[in-house]
Amino acid sequence: MGGPTDRGDNVSETSPIEATNSPLPWWRTGMLYQIYVRSFADSDGDGVGDLRGIINRLDHLSWLGVDGLWLSPITPSPNADFGYDVTDYCAVEPAYGNLADLDELVASANARGIQVLIDLVPNHSSDQHPWFIESRSARDSTHRDFYVWVDPKPDGSPPNNWVGCFGGPAWTLDETTGQYYLHNFLPEQPDLNWWCQDVHSAFDDILRFWWDRGVAGFRIDVCNMIIKDAELRDNPPATEDDPFIMQMFGQRPEYTSNRPEVHDILKHWRQVAGGYDPARVLLGETNVESLETLATFYGKGDDELSLSFNFPFIESPFEAEALRGIVERTEELLPPGSWPVWTGSNHDVSRLATRWAGGHPDKIRLALLMLLTLRGTPVLYQGDEIGLTDVDFAHHEILDPVGLRFWPAYVGRDPERTPMPWTAAPNGGFTPPESTSWLKMGDPSSGNVIDQRDDPESVLQFTRDLIALRRRTPGLVTGEYRSLPSPDGVWIWRRGTRTVVVLNFSDQPTRIALDAPESQIGISSDRSRDGTTITGSVDLTPWEGAVLLERT
Ligand code: NOJ
Repeated sequence: MGGPTDRGDNVSETSPIEATNSPLPWWRTGMLYQIYVRSFADSDGDGVGDLRGIINRLDHLSWLGVDGLWLSPITPSPNADFGYDVTDYCAVEPAYGNLADLDELVASANARGIQVLIDLVPNHSSDQHPWFIESRSARDSTHRDFYVWVDPKPDGSPPNNWVGCFGGPAWTLDETTGQYYLHNFLPEQPDLNWWCQDVHSAFDDILRFWWDRGVAGFRIDVCNMIIKDAELRDNPPATEDDPFIMQMFGQRPEYTSNRPEVHDILKHWRQVAGGYDPARVLLGETNVESLETLATFYGKGDDELSLSFNFPFIESPFEAEALRGIVERTEELLPPGSWPVWTGSNHDVSRLATRWAGGHPDKIRLALLMLLTLRGTPVLYQGDEIGLTDVDFAHHEILDPVGLRFWPAYVGRDPERTPMPWTAAPNGGFTPPESTSWLKMGDPSSGNVIDQRDDPESVLQFTRDLIALRRRTPGLVTGEYRSLPSPDGVWIWRRGTRTVVVLNFSDQPTRIALDAPESQIGISSDRSRDGTTITGSVDLTPWEGAVLLERT
């Protein structure tokens, strides 16, 4: 594994980190890119993306300016939940390749200054994992305690009222031993028992297995739910004041989520991560309702997660006031020394180009400009860089178990998981034209990497130029965030001392008075304005955003 890249070490004039004289870790100065492996690039024509496909596309990622990759699960899986049901935590899914391919991917990425994070799924395994097969075989099996087994209530019903995140009871009765096992997702995803010390030891070995071979860190699945209430107390009922999702499930996840003991697990993992050089990264999937709770996953600032995904931000409406409120509150709440992370898309939520932008080209650019200029680590999801939108699915095309369960109220997650369009050819260069891709894909001729690379006006060129501007502008890398007074529908902030970001979230033109006598437009979503000089005020067209570099 390479050391921290040099590319981002242009420290800010205002960074509090600068004062400590400690070198900045690569994941603070850089940006991350999520790869949904099944849908990124297929090298062998079986219609499923694979590790060699990623190796073949590293030049695209390097050209784009990516510093780190997060790969969705690469471990073997029967795919009840497409990789999030793991049968072996220390191997590579054969459809994706093997460990030698992973080693080659890490080495080739490192050679380009790119680090590789993988997904870790500690909350649950597959029901086909040898641990669970053994565990369910008998009440006194050696791995019985690896999972949560509980007697039925006297009337035969489940031990408590917990419901799973994919709907239905979180318990399934196993006829073999007459006990229920816990699963907060599908019945094929039994929850591991984090009250069992052998589970802790097994995961210590798993962390080291990957980190020893140069994996730069983990995105930790369902990070805030790993450990549940030891007494298995009933969750309290939801009230009409609770968020919609809790009302839908009928309960507050008080005893299934955000338990105090999860922080002990994360502290321990952070210590193990810190034993490596460079320290390995812990990027948590912290799907929590409140920013106060989110902040707790950073611990004291340097002793739990390195980065904690901000779901209130992801789920915010695409409106200046709502987004600004979340960012300001996050900035207030995060403990000193910690670092935010911003993302607008992933494999579980509708893509930002659809959900935030409704496919509107100017709004897509505005969203990208926002993500790449806030204080913190931006994470783009594959396809964000070309403004890729969701794909419509009919019932018979759905593969996601969640979509199949909730159709037609919810189509599931297939629309944002469709294969990456690399070219305009049939199958978009994802898989050969004569192959069948594992999941339906959109029309590649409506937007793809190659066409956009050749078009200076494209979203792809905009994203690349934005990443490059970020990299060479110290204020954008580490400068403090400060909101500036903004008219309705507009969000203006300062980064560091000389960089100002102006975003017009409205369909009205606006004029913004500026403090600095003279600025240069570092980049605008209207590319014709790049490099122009601004004095006194800046005019923005509807949905235009720009980075202003003040002259002293
Ligand atoms: C969150 C993952 O991102 C999602 O895809 C998965 O279904 C659940 N966790 C369960 O592992």
